[in-house]
Amino acid sequence: MSAPAGHQRSPIVLEPMAPTHLVDVLALGRELYDTTVKPYTSWSLSAVAGHMDADASACWVALDGERLAGFVLGSMGFDQRADWGNLEWIASAPDYQGQGVASHLVQACCATLTAAGATAVVTDVAARNTASAALMRRNGFKESVTVTLFVRDVESPL
Ligand SMILES: CC(C)(COP(=O)(O)OP(=O)(O)OC[C@H]1O[C@@H](n2cnc3c(N)ncnc32)[C@H](O)[C@@H]1OP(=O)(O)O)[C@@H](O)C(=O)NCCC(=O)NCCS
Repeated sequence: MSAPAGHQRSPIVLEPMAPTHLVDVLALGRELYDTTVKPYTSWSLSAVAGHMDADASACWVALDGERLAGFVLGSMGFDQRADWGNLEWIASAPDYQGQGVASHLVQACCATLTAAGATAVVTDVAARNTASAALMRRNGFKESVTVTLFVRDVESPL
């Protein structure tokens, strides 16, 4: 992975996420996810902690020295399927996008889940998130079921 222009860079390294990364991970998520709309409304400390605390945790950070370049959060179990891994959250900091950071994070997360016994890894992608869909396709994910959230405002007449 190469460094963005204008920065003194060390090579970007991947490390398992530790509690010391929490503040930066939460802040980057708040910056990049629109938490007013699905599927990002559940972005929170408990969402992060749920993956970190899981028996088979697959949470990684990409670091440029001390600086957080990206993260991925996953763990075993998706809905009632204990044998499926769930790659739920991923983000690259704006300065680091388009350089393969997220691809490396996807691969690390999937490798951890596979080592934990996953027979498949599942991730959901909002229809409008073309960058995320391209990232997943590029890393071997194939489109499966499409779910559309229908919402009826309570004030609306029927
Ligand atoms: C989606 C996201 C994680 C991609 O991160 P990234 O580090 O830029 O991704 P990579 O550099 O590893 O790109 C891998 C592939 O993804 C695709 N991709 C990445 N950004 C893209 C963009 N803006 N438009 C279209 N495709 C894109 C490309 O196909 C790329 O393949 P390439 O190497 O052949 O160009 C990043 O855009 C992001 O943080 N978005 C906001 C958070 C988010 O929506 N997360 C996903 C939902 S949890």
